[in-house]
Amino acid sequence: MGRMLRWAAMLCIAVTVTACNKGGVDAKRIEAAEAGEWLTYGRTYDEQRFSPLDQINKETVGRLGVAWWTGFDTDRGQEATPLVADGVLYTTTTWSKVFAFDAKTGKALWSYDPQVDGGKGFNACCDVVNRGVALWKDKVYVGALDGRLIALDAKTGKVVWSIQTTDPNQPYTITQAPRAVKGKILVGNGGAEYPVRGYLSAFDAETGKLVWRFHMTPNPTGAPDNAASDKVMKEKANATWYEGAWKDGGGGATPWDPITYDVKSDLIFVGTGNAGPWNGKIRTGGKGDNLFAASIVALRPDTGEYVWHYQPTPRDDWDFDATQHLMVADLPIGGKTQRVVMQANKNGFYYVLDAASGKLLAADAYVKVTWATGVDMATGRPIEAPGARYEGGATQQQTPGALGGHNWQPMAFSPKENLVYIPAQTLYMDYADPKEFKFIKGAWNLGLGPSILAPTSVQPTPFGQLIAWDPVAKKARWKVDFPEPWRSGVLATGGGLVFHAAGHKFMAFDAATGKALWEYDVGAGAIAAASTYAIDGEQYVALMVGFGGAGGMGGTEPRRKGRLLVFKLDGKTVPTPFPAVVTQAPLDLAAATPSTGDAVKGQALAEQFCNTCHNSGGYLPVLARSPVILEPVGFKAIVIDGARQPHGMAGFRRFFDAAAAEDIRAFLLAEAKKPPPKTQEMTHGR
Ligand code: HEC
Repeated sequence: MGRMLRWAAMLCIAVTVTACNKGGVDAKRIEAAEAGEWLTYGRTYDEQRFSPLDQINKETVGRLGVAWWTGFDTDRGQEATPLVADGVLYTTTTWSKVFAFDAKTGKALWSYDPQVDGGKGFNACCDVVNRGVALWKDKVYVGALDGRLIALDAKTGKVVWSIQTTDPNQPYTITQAPRAVKGKILVGNGGAEYPVRGYLSAFDAETGKLVWRFHMTPNPTGAPDNAASDKVMKEKANATWYEGAWKDGGGGATPWDPITYDVKSDLIFVGTGNAGPWNGKIRTGGKGDNLFAASIVALRPDTGEYVWHYQPTPRDDWDFDATQHLMVADLPIGGKTQRVVMQANKNGFYYVLDAASGKLLAADAYVKVTWATGVDMATGRPIEAPGARYEGGATQQQTPGALGGHNWQPMAFSPKENLVYIPAQTLYMDYADPKEFKFIKGAWNLGLGPSILAPTSVQPTPFGQLIAWDPVAKKARWKVDFPEPWRSGVLATGGGLVFHAAGHKFMAFDAATGKALWEYDVGAGAIAAASTYAIDGEQYVALMVGFGGAGGMGGTEPRRKGRLLVFKLDGKTVPTPFPAVVTQAPLDLAAATPSTGDAVKGQALAEQFCNTCHNSGGYLPVLARSPVILEPVGFKAIVIDGARQPHGMAGFRRFFDAAAAEDIRAFLLAEAKKPPPKTQEMTHGR
């Protein structure tokens, strides 16, 4: 038994038999972070995703095997981090479903399905994912894809309260794990591609009553919103927005992932999404910084009061959300210990900020960056490369692209090594102005030319890297390369290990050197980060399996029903293999009912409404290869009437009519006659 594990076990036994069931999760427990538990998304408030457990270590990891596993009823991307409290493991799957298991045996305790309308899948830019629950006292909290925040009884899974946190008539989503801080449940929203207007809300954990709300962009109507953000909008943000299409949707800036609480400075750090529409010329006439889009914002958890902000990407033109993992740590900088908040931003720079003041301490490229040559440390602003804002025509081989140098996949920190492990990626993208732009309410409104999906330059092959970043030396100590750019989050442990998945392999690396020590074929792609916990003297590692998310939707990996795999030393369980992938028979075009539609109109409609999901080698159906396009009645039933709505394919009646659907079919039939395009995997993501 590892030292930390023995200590954790002793603590429980020493007090009383029920000492490990301490009447629910509270701030003390999350802060004290008992070694055997994982109580919030990033394990503890500082979100380091470091567990001191060391039974599974460099010497023993070779004995790691499956202790128990379970399969879920939904496919597409599984992004949740399993939480473990009082011997119960809580996780979520796509479509915001919640599951509770006995963490030792895998026995199912309860499950909860919020029954999200499948049509809401249209509002999820980047798959119908969910990243997990929050725990507080006797309740479990989940954010549903349709914008509800739901409190469940931790023992039974029964609904205690449910609040609609967004206007259900607008394309808002929730995919993030809510966070529990000081008796409040914090949750934001997504939807900046459409765009909506982002905000963060704090609800009373007991009653679900709204305590405060902070809007991330000014109100386009000029009307007051709420006490928390109105004042700072007037002082700092209003003057950074000009006339433009942002007024149609609200400017984006949706805080859709990190909310990190720093106990020492009593601040929460929130990352906000891209400005919307993406194209700054269309959004605000190419003027202003557009606060607080693509920003890190520090707020008081009690009141939502603004304290500081830092904007890595002023006037975002590229979909550079600042929604990557925000991690708090104590670092030895300049001879003293400094409390910092850090982010490997989508834009390719690794930022280190003083936690209390927001002062910029470091900003260094952790991947290849072509849109800027560096960050001016005096002003904190990027030094932009000429042409990066596609002012002279389409960019060529720009990197990072919209998927970022790093996306939502969580990093991890080892306080032993003072290293941050970044699941990084290098992908290229061509940005260009559109020929014309018309805002379509409720649909994607990027304001870009079609080059986002059809590159205008020959793009280098994308790839991935696990980077051990030294935030003090401001450089990588080691890197491991992968052919797959879009991979899993990371877990670091006291056993000197870093856990990470790429392709179908779940792997453990030496935290100090990057040496590969163990791998296991999970049978499908995994994108979530693993968590670890201990029960009765045994350490477990839990991983959600199921490929998808923004990078998955642009890829060729097939959809798989999700799984949870839980490992321990000498685990001997062998999961059932996934069913074989069925390759689709070629279309019999001779049997097609000829279309009366206009293929040119159909192409424009497909680019506007369909390609955001149906753009790839097979994650979602490749429409030009689908037998459904062979005849008009079934096609219309799906595309207009929503026959597949329960499976996430909304009907489009609110955007166009049956004649337009036939135009799309005409285009797809014409496409079907062409030889299959050479897919360039994941160069066109979001
Ligand atoms: C938000 C994502 C999304 C968008 C946008 C979208 N679809 Fe779909 N579509 C899906 C999903 C998910 C499925 C698979 C449903 C299932 O498993 O039954 C699907 C399935 C289909 C199918 C059935 C294909 C088959 O072989 O089973 C057709 C046809 C289709 N979509 C047409 C369209 C058209 C036309 C558009 C644009 C007007 C469109 N879709 C836009 C998500 C989307």
